[in-house]
Amino acid sequence: MSSEYIKFEGILFPKGYSIKHLKFCRDEFVVKNTDVIVVTYPKSGTNWVIEIISLIHSKGDTTWVQSIPIFERSPWVEVKASQPLLCKKEQNGPRFYSSHLPIWLFPKSYFQSKAKIIYVMRNPKDVIVSLYHFTKVLKCFETAESVSQMIKMFSQGTVPFGSWFDHTCGWLSLRGNENFLILTYEELLQDLWGNVEKICHFLGTKLKEEEVNLVVKNASFSAMKANKMSNYSILPDEIMDHSQGSMLRKGIAGDWKNHFTVAQSEAFDKLFQERMAELDQRLFPWE
Ligand code: A3P
Repeated sequence: MSSEYIKFEGILFPKGYSIKHLKFCRDEFVVKNTDVIVVTYPKSGTNWVIEIISLIHSKGDTTWVQSIPIFERSPWVEVKASQPLLCKKEQNGPRFYSSHLPIWLFPKSYFQSKAKIIYVMRNPKDVIVSLYHFTKVLKCFETAESVSQMIKMFSQGTVPFGSWFDHTCGWLSLRGNENFLILTYEELLQDLWGNVEKICHFLGTKLKEEEVNLVVKNASFSAMKANKMSNYSILPDEIMDHSQGSMLRKGIAGDWKNHFTVAQSEAFDKLFQERMAELDQRLFPWE
């Protein structure tokens, strides 16, 4: 299944990624102190948080999110085609961009900068289900045959962007740094308002109560699903097979319960305990 992926430093990347660019990205890309970067393992709520920070930036007004595609508002640093966008994005306020890179492949210059990172985590069982469905849609991912196959590959780390456990442990090593904010998908679902306030505080942006209300309203699952600049429906069929599903699929926590057998769930819990036992379990507020 992984034959068409490329490998860099032992990590698989989707078809079409460039090793030369991944090296450039790690060794030469210049992170600026004013950058705001959303970092995630795939399918953890990346686009949701990009939409939230876009709306915070425009104080809840929807003009920007309804006129510019989400992947241009916050381009992917590891995608070569995004580079011109990243260079262009220097005029108005902070530069937003996104990354799925594990910490050890992230631009080195970040570690000498004051740039802000928002790291978003999600229950890995729900990540598996979301990823399983998304492999049918996004053509640079190889289609998974079944949830079982996806659980196996995910557990072994033989999926694009590598092991969830390594990705998460790596990035969580920055917890406590003042320019590093950890959010979880589950907490966003539970209390979007409170989390918008938390993000505003982190970014140093003051919004009035009615502006926070607008951010919450316009970053809802239904608002994003209806916004063609945020739901990826504008991408051509060569990139996404829209007949197989969409980026905004269900938007819930706990969908894994509809897909995992009891044995699969117990085996995954055991693996989770083995790999994450040394971390404070309160970092993982999901069931
Ligand atoms: P599901 O496939 O479980 O529905 P990413 O942006 O990292 O690729 O994550 C995609 C997941 O986030 C999808 O999960 C998608 O539905 C969910 N998502 C995106 N926007 C959301 C929103 N506004 N509210 C809730 N979930 C959202």
